[in-house]
Amino acid sequence: MRTPRLSRRDFALGSVSALAAASWSRVYGANESLRLASVGVGGKGWDDLNQISASPKVSAAALCDTDESDKFLGRAATKFKDAKTFTDWRKLFDQHKTFDAVSVSTPDHMHAPVALPAMALGKHVFCQKPLTHTVHEARQMKLAAKKYGVVTQMGNQIQSHEAYRTAVKLVRDGTIGKVKEVHSWQSGKMGWILAPDRPKGADPVPEKLHWDEWLGSAPSRPYKKSLYHDFNWRAWQDFSNGQLGDFGCHILDPVFMALGLTAPTTVRAKRSEMNREVWYRSSVVEYEFPGTDRTADKTVKVTWYDGEGKGPARDKLGLKADVKLPGSGSLLIGTKGSLMVPHVAMPKLLVDGDAPAIKPEAAVNHYTTWADACRGEGKTTSHFDYASALTEAVLLGTVALRVPDETLKWDTAALTVTNSKEATALLTKPYRKGWEPKWV
Ligand SMILES: NC(=O)c1ccc[n+]([C@@H]2O[C@H](COP(=O)([O-])OP(=O)(O)OC[C@H]3O[C@@H](n4cnc5c(N)ncnc54)[C@H](O)[C@@H]3O)[C@@H](O)[C@H]2O)c1
Repeated sequence: MRTPRLSRRDFALGSVSALAAASWSRVYGANESLRLASVGVGGKGWDDLNQISASPKVSAAALCDTDESDKFLGRAATKFKDAKTFTDWRKLFDQHKTFDAVSVSTPDHMHAPVALPAMALGKHVFCQKPLTHTVHEARQMKLAAKKYGVVTQMGNQIQSHEAYRTAVKLVRDGTIGKVKEVHSWQSGKMGWILAPDRPKGADPVPEKLHWDEWLGSAPSRPYKKSLYHDFNWRAWQDFSNGQLGDFGCHILDPVFMALGLTAPTTVRAKRSEMNREVWYRSSVVEYEFPGTDRTADKTVKVTWYDGEGKGPARDKLGLKADVKLPGSGSLLIGTKGSLMVPHVAMPKLLVDGDAPAIKPEAAVNHYTTWADACRGEGKTTSHFDYASALTEAVLLGTVALRVPDETLKWDTAALTVTNSKEATALLTKPYRKGWEPKWV
């Protein structure tokens, strides 16, 4: 059965009404598969494609990647022989009747430009973290998911791992009392910063790489070997949000979930030197959030640290000398003890006397949870209503990193930094002409 319950008309992208979108929900037969179109099938996209299509209820219907070579589209096409292949997601979307759901595993700057029209077409969406490249885009993703009534999941898969699920449960159960403050860090090397500024000149574009499509909505720039595609795009502000953008939606996720955080009220950042091209090498970002029923006070401070070998100062944490800080993770300091939440390992309770044994929470499959939910079975946890709020907070930190040493006041309802026009302007960005996203 391929026909939705109510008939569907062809339509122009973005012109569809919420009423029509709601009518697309389908009833799947027991043997009918969810037809997946994967955009970005190298790097993490290869893993996403394999993980999602591991479900017997999913079939890989279409593969799209801007690099046709063996490491990217070639490898996926060899394994998923029945899937149609594309190098431009717009051509894929022209054939939207051939798939039901889309996974987006491109570099960050193309998440929203691909996911927004997918949702407007009534497609369920799995999108990598961080959900978007700007705060404005994150808000749009949430609005689109709601308007078109589609099933969504951000690719912060560690949320579904037993380690993070156990940490969240321990805090929600009050094991460390009410939480007074949180420190989160990523002390790893930013090995993807390979140049201090934009280089002069151009290298020949490899024969199988579609560079213009790779750039997509980003301002045009010449191809340079190794600096952008693949993986090293993380260094560049036009494509990514640096280390906080890369890891914030993982490491701050259990903090958000455990405390039930919403939008921050203020954010303030300091950092190493940075120009307008390449991200910083180390930072400290201080957030203040409204308190919740799991915090000790009316507000709660969450501080992010990154940079090779960097992290919170031990003397601020009240830890015993034998407690080691993991290379990345969070420490939640509560009224009855602290919880160390390494990224990714089981949490450790730090309390006076002997810590009680921790009962692990069972993991769930982040990928098939989404695929099942698309078929009407169960619900996702990192749906865009949740993931957009987490991403907005993370990306507000990266706005503060561009306007450092100022306490920025955030009005989430008005989507405005009330005391900085400069910061408010950085909530969005210029898009290449003809590549503007389809806003809700
Ligand atoms: N959840 C995780 O643990 C995790 C881990 C790594 C990366 N990621 C996320 O996955 C995304 C991709 O990161 P990566 O490290 O795999 O990058 P990558 O550069 O290694 O791979 C990106 C892939 O997308 C393709 N691509 C680029 N632009 C495209 C476009 N416009 N249309 C179709 N295909 C396109 C590339 O050719 C490549 O195959 C990022 O958002 C990143 O933050 C998540």
